[in-house]
Parts: sequence; C-alpha cells; structure tokens
Amino acid sequence: MAISVPFLSFVLIFSLVSMGNSLISNYYEKTCPHLDSIVAKTVKEAAAKDITVPAALLRMHFHDCFVRGCDASVLLNSTAKHKAEKDGPANISLHAFSVIDNVKKQVEDSCPGVVSCADILALAARDAVFLSGGPYWDVLKGRKDGRISNANDSFLLPAPFFNISQLQNNFAQRGLSLEDLVALSGGHTIGFAHCSSFRNRIQNFDAKHDVDPSLNPSLAAKLKSTCPAKNTPKNAGVTMDSSGTTFDNTYYSLILQGKGLFSSDQALLTNAQTKKMVSEFAASKGAFFRAFVKSMIKMSSLNGGQEVRRDCRAVN
Ligand code: HEM
Ligand SMILES: *[C@@H]1O[C@H](CO)[C@@H](O)[C@H](O)[C@H]1NC(C)=O
Ligand SMILES: *[C@@H]1O[C@H](CO)[C@@H](O)[C@H](O)[C@H]1NC(C)=O
Ligand SMILES: *[C@@H]1O[C@H](CO)[C@@H](O)[C@H](O)[C@H]1NC(C)=O
Ligand SMILES: *[C@@H]1O[C@H](CO)[C@@H](O)[C@H](O)[C@H]1NC(C)=O
Repeated sequence: MAISVPFLSFVLIFSLVSMGNSLISNYYEKTCPHLDSIVAKTVKEAAAKDITVPAALLRMHFHDCFVRGCDASVLLNSTAKHKAEKDGPANISLHAFSVIDNVKKQVEDSCPGVVSCADILALAARDAVFLSGGPYWDVLKGRKDGRISNANDSFLLPAPFFNISQLQNNFAQRGLSLEDLVALSGGHTIGFAHCSSFRNRIQNFDAKHDVDPSLNPSLAAKLKSTCPAKNTPKNAGVTMDSSGTTFDNTYYSLILQGKGLFSSDQALLTNAQTKKMVSEFAASKGAFFRAFVKSMIKMSSLNGGQEVRRDCRAVN
C-alpha cells in the first residue's frame, strides 16, 4: 500500500487542527469495503424520491461538525429525561434522518459494529453535494460517535442574523478561517429557508429602516409578500438561491447583487477580504468548488466522539 508523503502531511495537519484521531481515506478498506457504494446508492435513491434530501444532508453534517465536532451528536434522539440537539432551537428544517438510518441498517447487516454514524453522515453530505452538480472529493474516515447531545448546544451554531465579526469568531473557535467561512457559506446554493430565518431583514430592521438597506428592493418585496407580517403560513419560505437544487456558484453572484438571503450571507460583502473572495467565487465556479472541497475536508475533520454507535439515534 503506497501512501505519498504529501498525503501523510496533509492528514497530520488536519489531525493537529482537530486534536484527535487522524482520519484516513481507506479506513474501512478491509472492514467494510462496500461502505462508499452503499451510501452513494442510498442517498441517490432518497434524493430521487424527495428533492429536499441533498440540502438536508449537507446542513445536517454542518450542524453535526459545529457542535462537539463531527460526532453524530445531531443524530441522537431526545430521551424521556433529556432533550437532544435535534430538538433544540436551531433545528428548523433538519430532516432526512431516515436516510442515515437506512444506510446504517445496510452497513450493520454487512459489517456490524465497525462504521460510525459520523462517517456515514460525512459521506452522505459529500454524495449530496455531488448529486446536486457540485464537486466530488475523497472523504477521510475514522470518526467516532459521541455520547452527548444537548438541545441548548444548538446556540453554538452561527445564527442567520450574525454580522461578519460574529461569523468570523464562530468559525475561528473551530479553527476555521475567513476563507472557510466564505467557501462553506456557498452550501447555501442549495436548499430552502423559512421566513423566520430572514424575517429580521424585512420587518423592523432597525430604528431607521423597516427593511435592511443592503437587501435588493425587488427581493425585499418578494420576501415580504411570501412572509407577511401577520398570518404567515407555518412552512412559508423561499429557496436559498435562484437555482435551489443545483450546486453552483450562483449564490455568490446573488450576494454581489444584494440578493443574499440571510444577514450572514450578505455580511460577506462587509469585509474587504471576504468581499474579494465572493467576487472570485462568483466569477469562477472552479475556484469556488476547489475552495469548498478544501474547507469541507477541514470542517469534516473536527473531531469529537469515542464509540461506534449501533443505532445512530441512541448511544450504545
Ligand atoms: C455561515 C453560517 C451559517 C448560517 C448562519 C446558516 C444558517 C442557516 C439557516 C438559518 C438556514 C435555514 C433554515 C430554515 O429556515 O429552514 C440554513 C439552511 C441551510 N444551510 Fe446554513 N448556515 C450557515 C452555514 C452553512 C454551512 C457551512 C453549510 C454547509 C456547508 C450550510 C448548509 C445549509 C443548507 C444546505 C441549508 C438548506 C437546508 C434545507 O434545505 O434543508 N449552512 N442555514
Ligand atoms: C425541533 O424541535 C421542536 C421543539 O422541541 C420539535 O417539536 C421538533 O420535532 C424538532 N424538529 C426536528 C426535525 O427534530
Ligand atoms: C444545557 O443542557 C444541559 C443538559 O440538559 C445542562 O446540563 C446544562 O446546564 C444546560 N446549559 C445551559 C447553559 O442551559
Ligand atoms: C457585530 O455585532 C456585535 C454584537 O452586536 C458587535 O459588538 C460588533 O461591533 C458588530 N460588528 C460589526 C462588524 O458590525
Ligand atoms: C428516534 O425517534 C424516531 C422519530 O421520533 C423514532 O422513529 C425512532 O424509533 C427513535 N429511535 C430511538 C432509538 O429512540
């Protein structure tokens, strides 16, 4: 087996960042050789039945990694005595947990007790991106599942009303840079957002403005009509960018037009360094894809757990 020196130093750097187990590409080569194809097939079938699945899986992985590292804490159910992360305040729109259960069931049938739920989620997120037209990359494996999941931990996630310094701090706490922030925010090229996630921008924005002045007026009018101040339907909202199910660089062009959906999206124009990256990614899908892959591998390597769960929804 040949492992190149650059590859080894790459693994080393990320394990230092995450201060945990080092992840490797061929972790399950002997113990569960069909893992990748089981995940790919299951995600593809689920997405064919429900177009909202890819975005849900990508967001689920992000939430997992930002709370206690990528340890599948987001998958744990609440119990009679304890409210889990997935039932916390930031859980809006989390769904498609059954796709992970379905993979886990197949994997337990063919290679019991060896594949972590955190690894399954990392693979599923990669496949979700690729299926949507995004880049493909080699997912490093060897994560362990955690035993802790608290509803109130969802406050650790960045909020859609965060400004650039709050976003920067939140990412820096996880060893992630401004470049990672800009690249990973591009995840918002797919998926759906509820009115509550951008309500702050279209109503009572501040003492002087009802509507956020950095929001494009025609988008503001559209958002106001979708999300009226009174009697907004419970599931009302909009796709995150104009090409809602296609993973591309449209997200960045929209930001340049004042059409970023959340304050946190539009905030990427308020810092010279992040603004420059937004322009670069808007101009080049290739540059965005390369940066996204690099930052996903970094985010995916935030370490957390200590066991391989038998059921992704409950600790052993
Ligand atoms: C930068 C800070 C971020 C903030 C403040 C943020 C916030 C949000 C919010 C509020 C929603 C909408 C929830 C709803 O209304 O239903 C959302 C959706 C989403 N986010 Fe983020 N997010 C951030 C970063 C990320 C990252 C890093 C990724 C992945 C790489 C990501 C992927 C997604 C996806 C795919 C959706 C759509 C989910 C769906 O359609 O089911 N987000 N995000
Ligand atoms: C989100 O949390 C609420 C309140 O605890 C809960 O009723 C809902 O089922 C949760 N949603 C998901 C997708 O887990
Ligand atoms: C969060 O929840 C955990 C477990 O329920 C609890 O021990 C802790 O005190 C809570 N923290 C805060 C800040 O509420
Ligand atoms: C962002 O918000 C925080 C908290 O409200 C504030 O202290 C900070 O000055 C703001 N930063 C920018 C760049 O607006
Ligand atoms: C977790 O919750 C889901 C949905 O409520 C339920 O179908 C499943 O049986 C639960 N699993 C465990 C292990 O608690």
